[in-house]
Amino acid sequence: MSIVSNHNVVKMSPRVEDLAKLFKGKPGMIQLQPKGWALPLAFERYSKDIKEFPFYEDDTILMTMPKSGTTWIQEILWTMKNNAKLDHPMASVPLNRRSPFLEVDILVEQIQHRGTIAEMFSQQYPDFDQSYGMGLHVARKAPRPRVIKTHLSFSLISDSALSNTKVLIDKMRKSNHTKTLFLMFLQIVYVIRDPRDVCISYHHHCRIFKYEDFQGTFDQFVDAFIEGAVTYAPYWAHVKAAWERRNHPNLHILFYEKMKKNTKEEFMKLSKFLGLDISDAQMDKIIEYTSFSEMKKRDIHVISPRDAHVMLNLVRANEEGGFFRQGTSGSWKSTLNEDQKEKFNVWIEKNCFDKVIMENITNL
Ligand code: A3P
Repeated sequence: MSIVSNHNVVKMSPRVEDLAKLFKGKPGMIQLQPKGWALPLAFERYSKDIKEFPFYEDDTILMTMPKSGTTWIQEILWTMKNNAKLDHPMASVPLNRRSPFLEVDILVEQIQHRGTIAEMFSQQYPDFDQSYGMGLHVARKAPRPRVIKTHLSFSLISDSALSNTKVLIDKMRKSNHTKTLFLMFLQIVYVIRDPRDVCISYHHHCRIFKYEDFQGTFDQFVDAFIEGAVTYAPYWAHVKAAWERRNHPNLHILFYEKMKKNTKEEFMKLSKFLGLDISDAQMDKIIEYTSFSEMKKRDIHVISPRDAHVMLNLVRANEEGGFFRQGTSGSWKSTLNEDQKEKFNVWIEKNCFDKVIMENITNL
């Protein structure tokens, strides 16, 4: 048994192992305890560098379970922080280059030709050995202030994410300058989405992205999701790690459903959290610019056509929809059958540790 980021790499149960085998794009999975994190095999080699990745105080980390609306919020964060007037010359550069994805290496390492990202990388860093850590290098070198996306939970990234502020926070609670001082430390935005919609969206993702290449039935995918065999599972442990920190002044939790329903109110709260001064008129334009329909029109800003050839199963993407699939909440109601709904009900009942979470999702 090996140790990775203070976790034990454990043997998966035969059931989880069988479900994990349905993802043909992955050379293998590992499972870590505590929490049961399911991650691609490559995580073992990268864990130390990821754990030691240095953050700056002006970084914003966007942490999510995949398919929770990460790309949407990533564009909102980058735009609010860098492009509030919507005139930034870099705005049309693919999002993952403007806003690095911390552990991208563990996902795409097995893809032999990594498309324009690898080309751009070799032009920019001709001396860097591309066989290890391209994504980490890009993240290290990204211009500040950085918006860094990760799907890893707190225990797998640097201890400096949030915890470094603890002592100061206690002191600052007593001071009159609390807000100003909090802004001197990195901030984390965490997004929660209805797990049933996450599951449906993740199924689509795992069918179109070659590095997952899910080849089972939808029913099997629901089992894989619920039983913790999808990459970055388990869902509830992921949400819990953020929820436990929800009173930390440098953490802001968003709900996808609330962002959809009360968009302006939620955008305003987010901008306040980030300490930004965005006018009402600017905010209206940012809301429109980052709307589902506008982002879908600019989908080549997320995956360029050449990268799409490398990363996606284009036949499936053409038949079943691309990355910007539906962008709605509650589609599980018409997509899941009665058995699947019941399976989710039982699972939510058993694992949802705070009923306020499901209330935030459903009582809008
Ligand atoms: P669906 O598959 O339900 O449509 P992630 O970025 O975490 O992978 O999440 C992807 C989900 O967010 C997809 O959900 C996608 O359509 C949705 N999405 C992407 N951009 C969006 C936007 N601007 N507004 C709302 N939803 C968006």
